[in-house]
Amino acid sequence: MIFTLWILIESIWIILPAYAVNGLVPLVGLKKNNHPIDFGKRFRGKPILGSGKTWEGLAFGCFIGILIASIEMLAFPYLPFDQSPVPLTIIPMYPILGFMLGLGTIIGDMVGSFIKRRIGLPRGAIAPLLDQEDFLLGALLFASFMVIIKIDWVLLLVIITPIIHLIANVIGFKIRVKKEPW
Ligand code: CTP
Ligand code: MG
Repeated sequence: MIFTLWILIESIWIILPAYAVNGLVPLVGLKKNNHPIDFGKRFRGKPILGSGKTWEGLAFGCFIGILIASIEMLAFPYLPFDQSPVPLTIIPMYPILGFMLGLGTIIGDMVGSFIKRRIGLPRGAIAPLLDQEDFLLGALLFASFMVIIKIDWVLLLVIITPIIHLIANVIGFKIRVKKEPW
């Protein structure tokens, strides 16, 4: 299989709501005293998910997913997909698909935190690859309940997501939004 610009365009189109959710959900943390999804409960002495996974984050994630998908839906007629030399598989974007992408992002991220807690990593500890792939796979799984997801998109996104994540963080560091460049 060869990765082409067309596969890239198709996969970015479908994953955009998930990227937005994953990138924006830390904003929820600006407000204190949010409500943990695991109710602060522990499993074998360690937090089930930890206090970084909140109901507010879940609700916000679904909202952002719906918002970005709605923008994509409205923007669709103005985008030059028809000028592509090969026919593109652009998934029709709807609010309900955005909801599924948002929910899948948050649930995938929760699975990642569950694994981190089990191996003893505290909230906020970095887990390279797990931190970048958990939400992606969650989003693609939930989207696959509604639309057909090409395996080429999955493979390309699994490869480029950690790279995009790193570039975004370095930019965030340079413009002093982030304390560390990772
Ligand atoms: N967040 C939230 N609810 C969620 C997901 C994220 O409130 N369901 C907020 C929390 O304030 C969290 C921040 O977004 O601290 C960053 O998310 P993330 O990096 O996924 O969480 P961490 O705090 O790093 O915790 P973990 O180690 O479990 O990934
Ligand atoms: Mg984190």
